[in-house]
Amino acid sequence: ALPEKVKIVEVGPRDGLQNEKTIVPTETKIHLIDMLSETGLPVIEATSFVSPKWVPQMADQVEVMKGICKKPEVSYPVLTPNLKGFQAAVKAGASEVAIFGAASELFSKKNINCSVDESLQRFDEVMKAAKEAGVPVRGYVSCVLGCPYEGKVAPEKVAHVAKRLYAMGCYEISLGDTIGVGTPGSMTLMLEAVSREVPVSALAVHCHDTYGQALANILTALQMGINVVDSSVAGLGGCPYAQGASGNVATEDVVYMLHGLGIQTGVDLSKLMNAGAFICRSLNRKTNSKVAQATCKL
Ligand code: HMG
Ligand code: MG
Repeated sequence: ALPEKVKIVEVGPRDGLQNEKTIVPTETKIHLIDMLSETGLPVIEATSFVSPKWVPQMADQVEVMKGICKKPEVSYPVLTPNLKGFQAAVKAGASEVAIFGAASELFSKKNINCSVDESLQRFDEVMKAAKEAGVPVRGYVSCVLGCPYEGKVAPEKVAHVAKRLYAMGCYEISLGDTIGVGTPGSMTLMLEAVSREVPVSALAVHCHDTYGQALANILTALQMGINVVDSSVAGLGGCPYAQGASGNVATEDVVYMLHGLGIQTGVDLSKLMNAGAFICRSLNRKTNSKVAQATCKL
């Protein structure tokens, strides 16, 4: 059975923009987040407290956090790879953070410069500080359906990392198909393995659409009881350390599908499309949302 309601986690301002080659003006990022805040989205991932040497696009994280109009009913999590990032995030006013690990050793090394085990130790430090500060922590696992450097990733490896993050205290585990290679077949096998270790109610899916499988993969996850979906407005995005990764599934397309299934999201599609049109105009690029493309022609 499908869920009645789905929580959409909008990752456009972070995952969507982090891979942009040209630095996006801070005011544009702030305006995008403010527009998204008016759409009814419950969660908007705002930025990352990562090293500016590694991801120059996120170097204005403090200005973004201080510049946005936060609505009380919306949460604005930020990525924090280590204690330094966590402390800076809290200082800048973040009230929720996310740690991000991987099910693949080589990807972990390329993305956060440490092994999977080392990353879990770092995350444990973040977790302890977050508990003390009363800050909820979300956990990501990348490469859950394939790795750009290692190829196939065993569902058991994903389940192992997800279990560790959950045991550490993450309230939700977002399973990332970083390079969008999964299909409903591999998604089913992976979710079966993960749901033996982590309750389905604490799982989210984070699909990139590189191979055009994202909506099918999301529907598969919904059918397996998952009711949290990550997506990016206009289908922007990709991890700069995942070779060949393209955009996330477009939020517009996810909302369209969910509403068509009679599933509530609380999101106003036309306001969301305005936010998508704004960021595409600002970046001078075409939207990756099929729904936005279709409606433009009406
Ligand atoms: P490192 O070089 O190993 O770090 O990077 P270090 O601890 O050795 O420190 C080196 C320098 O970085 C020092 O500065 C530190 O102070 C500084 P220096 O002394 O050279 O001037 N530093 C920091 N600066 C700001 N904020 C920090 C921070 N930490 C250290 N938090 C590190 C390790 C994790 C920092 C680095 O690898 C990094 O920033 N990686 C982030 C990569 C990233 O953001 N990737 C994209 C997000 S993940 C993703 O997109 C996947 C996801 O969407 C899910 C999916 O699709 O699968 C979530
Ligand atoms: Mg991603």
